[in-house]
Amino acid sequence: MSGITRRSFLGRSGAGIAAAATVPALTVGPQRKADAQQREPVPQTRITLTVNGETRALTVEDRWTLVEVLRDHLRLTGTRVGCDRGECGACTVLLDGRNIYACSYLAVWADGKDVETVEGLARNGALDPLQEAFIEHDAPQCGFCTSGQLMSAKALLNERTNVTEAGVREALAGNICRCSNFLNYQAAVLAASRRA
Ligand code: FES
Ligand code: FES
Repeated sequence: MSGITRRSFLGRSGAGIAAAATVPALTVGPQRKADAQQREPVPQTRITLTVNGETRALTVEDRWTLVEVLRDHLRLTGTRVGCDRGECGACTVLLDGRNIYACSYLAVWADGKDVETVEGLARNGALDPLQEAFIEHDAPQCGFCTSGQLMSAKALLNERTNVTEAGVREALAGNICRCSNFLNYQAAVLAASRRA
């Protein structure tokens, strides 16, 4: 049997807690405050970009990603954030007509460029043919990946019409659907391409 009794254990633990409480509590707080005061201000840049056809000028911190600006500052929350590290495609938007991961692209890099998000697809109250096809093919399930799928499909149809099944698969390869509804998404894009 161990030589440690409940009484000795509590006695030692109490002494340890008391010792730990005396040292850092007196120094950590003021030190952190001093560090924060000395910290360099975060660099900021004034940028102008076109978002869904509208010119937007704003000051951004150089560390902000494009998806942060879209969602948190321009309130365009149709663009989703899944992994926030360039792996799932939920944040896909078009930059000068080509699909990019907005979570992995700094807002300052978008200065002077044209950004299109899912909010820009419908025009004058009419859905984009891709959106119509997504509905007809029951493509969205939970819907989390849908805006990213739409924007990658849009980039494909901006480049080509009458695409092949393999071409659609390749174009959507960077957009993960956790509901595994890939076949419906692919069928919808194929149908939309034939209508374009
Ligand atoms: S949130 Fe950007 S790739 Fe996943
Ligand atoms: S529809 Fe649910 S993640 Fe794709």
